[in-house]
Amino acid sequence: MNRYLKDDISRVLYSEEDIKQAVIKIAKQIENDYQGKNVLLVGLLKGAVPFLCDLARNIDLNLSIDFMTASSYYNGTETSGTVNITKDISTNVEDKHIIIVDDVADSGVTLTYLTEYLKKKNPLSVKTCALLDKPHRRTVDFTADYFGIVAPNDFVVGYGMDYQEKYRQLPYIGVLKESVYS
Ligand code: IMP
Ligand code: MG
Repeated sequence: MNRYLKDDISRVLYSEEDIKQAVIKIAKQIENDYQGKNVLLVGLLKGAVPFLCDLARNIDLNLSIDFMTASSYYNGTETSGTVNITKDISTNVEDKHIIIVDDVADSGVTLTYLTEYLKKKNPLSVKTCALLDKPHRRTVDFTADYFGIVAPNDFVVGYGMDYQEKYRQLPYIGVLKESVYS
């Protein structure tokens, strides 16, 4: 067993500085697009938490924050294809523009499903935002309205993203060593 979390990482894909730049880029796009509007950021627990906090701090607009828990992943590193909502938002959305915020758009299943789900609550609009985009992993036709970095297909951890609930607190995004999976 390794003493330090960083000993489990084979390479850092995105540094704290890379992440900061990506977050600011998205925040400024949102600020431009939603001038004079009420925005509700809906963060997906738990992976989107660090991203949502940093994103919100860089958006100079009236906005509110809520959270949902939805899982399309079961233990391993592949999606099961179905989405299970175990915690819903409690905000009244009829006067709000929703932006769903997630750590990574992978198969696209989660964000596609939640967009349709939240539209049924009659918000003014629903858009999606992911820090990382893995466009080559799609199993459904999905394009994020806002994304920070186009990432390779590798399974990554850190900055909210986990492997079996670990590594979420790493300030950077990295790839795990093969030995961690085996
Ligand atoms: P999708 O529905 O396949 O797009 O999956 C999105 C969810 O899968 C994200 O919210 C993450 O929780 C999880 N996920 C996808 N890729 C990774 C990864 O590389 N590391 C950690 N979690 C991931
Ligand atoms: Mg997630």
